[in-house]
Amino acid sequence: MKRSRLSEALPAGLIVAVDRNSPTPLYRQLYHAYRDAITERRLRAGERLPSTRGLADELGISRLPVIDAFEQLLAEGYFEARVGVGTFVARALPGEMPAQRRAASAATGERGGKRVLARRPEALLGRGPEPWLAGRGAFRLSQPAIEHFPFRVWSTLLARQARSPKASLLHYGDPLGYLPFREAVAAYLRAARAVRCEADQVMVVSGSQQALEIAARVLLDPGSSVWVEDPGYGGARDALTMAGARLVPVPVDEDGLDVAAGIARSPRARAVHVTPSHQYPLGATLSASRRMRLLDWARASGAWILEDDYDSEYRYQSQPVAALQGLDRDARVVYIGTLSKILFPGLRVGYLVIPRDLVARFAAVRDAMDIFPPTLPQAALADFLADGHFARHLRRTRQIYRERRGVLVEALRRELGGTVEVLGDQAGMHLVAALPDGTHDRRLAERAAGAGLWAMPLSTCYLGDPRPGLVLGYGGTGVDEIRDGVRRLRRVIEED
Ligand SMILES: Cc1ncc(COP(=O)(O)O)c(C=O)c1O
Repeated sequence: MKRSRLSEALPAGLIVAVDRNSPTPLYRQLYHAYRDAITERRLRAGERLPSTRGLADELGISRLPVIDAFEQLLAEGYFEARVGVGTFVARALPGEMPAQRRAASAATGERGGKRVLARRPEALLGRGPEPWLAGRGAFRLSQPAIEHFPFRVWSTLLARQARSPKASLLHYGDPLGYLPFREAVAAYLRAARAVRCEADQVMVVSGSQQALEIAARVLLDPGSSVWVEDPGYGGARDALTMAGARLVPVPVDEDGLDVAAGIARSPRARAVHVTPSHQYPLGATLSASRRMRLLDWARASGAWILEDDYDSEYRYQSQPVAALQGLDRDARVVYIGTLSKILFPGLRVGYLVIPRDLVARFAAVRDAMDIFPPTLPQAALADFLADGHFARHLRRTRQIYRERRGVLVEALRRELGGTVEVLGDQAGMHLVAALPDGTHDRRLAERAAGAGLWAMPLSTCYLGDPRPGLVLGYGGTGVDEIRDGVRRLRRVIEED
């Protein structure tokens, strides 16, 4: 490697090395050498710099990269030129900083100065990668049957929109989302989920997670109490915690959220997060009497209901249960839906149905967050719904999940009938295999991961007293893999 050095005889006394073989252009090398020397205070304010010609000669390189580097440093205010005199380190730069406050050492990542961080994210840290995620095999949660998704149709629709997009798709859009897609979503929700809504109340979001974030910004203040189901959905808890909410765990039983227990614990909570159609993860349906009670409490106490309707399209022994939002006469329910289950989670598309008098507030908050959702996928999705592909895919996946669920329930009964109790298998894409009291489900899940299985311990869904079990997804696991997975699970449980 040929190196050229600048001698210390130069006015500012800086030794610069350039490497002609480096992929970094010479002007960038020089720029960084001077900028670092200035920020690290090796060159001080007012010091004279060499002439571009002198420096180029010293380094044995052409003058052009030296001029480029100097012009950049002049433009950024590190250098200043005095006409007829020369180029200097800018005098306006602050003086020397104490040694301990030097800039980060690239090698050690060590930093000087006080660095104050927000406290809230601490609740999310220290969990590490969960060992059961290492399995990546059968029973993975939140994974639909992507192998049955009509990718050819989808790519045609996406390409059609991308090839000749309307100008309106390329400019800034509505914080609520692309109107034709919102109209299709509203029609679907009215017909399939008994949601009372029009397109002007639908906001397209990046999954339920963003829906919660936006709703929290509109409805909650830091310190607001929010009921959460216990056991419940960690994603919702995290979003609410990040919004500064104080979580109030409320137990669930076979009728879903125990509303009386919630009222006893926190009668004046600002909001509740609830999964009425298919309680996550235990699978109960919120009973009619509890629905009435919840709505009555919300009206009387001035609380908001965040209805998370994440996988209710899939129900196996009856028609899907109607959404709670459809029963609400007091504009208390904010409905949250997602395409993560019906289509695929990588799409990051969900929707909020907002009480009409709050639409302007939600839109203003959205505008302040990410302005509006990406339009192109929404345009393709609008076509996907309008052309009947969505309804077809839903029918198809209902059949697939019904079969997978049947195979899983049957295999669990056959292989583990005496050990596990199957809960919540009447809907959705997962069920719970409850284990005898005292079972260490985390250890079991870790061992299952060692056997190539992806089984989430039920205890991780609890804030209070946990019940042991495994949450098993079947949406993304084929029938042969399910049968094989249950046999492996039996061996893991027997060896525990
Ligand atoms: C209860 C619940 N809500 C929502 C979601 C989906 O979240 P998102 O729409 O952000 O992908 C899931 C996914 O597992 C879930 O279990």
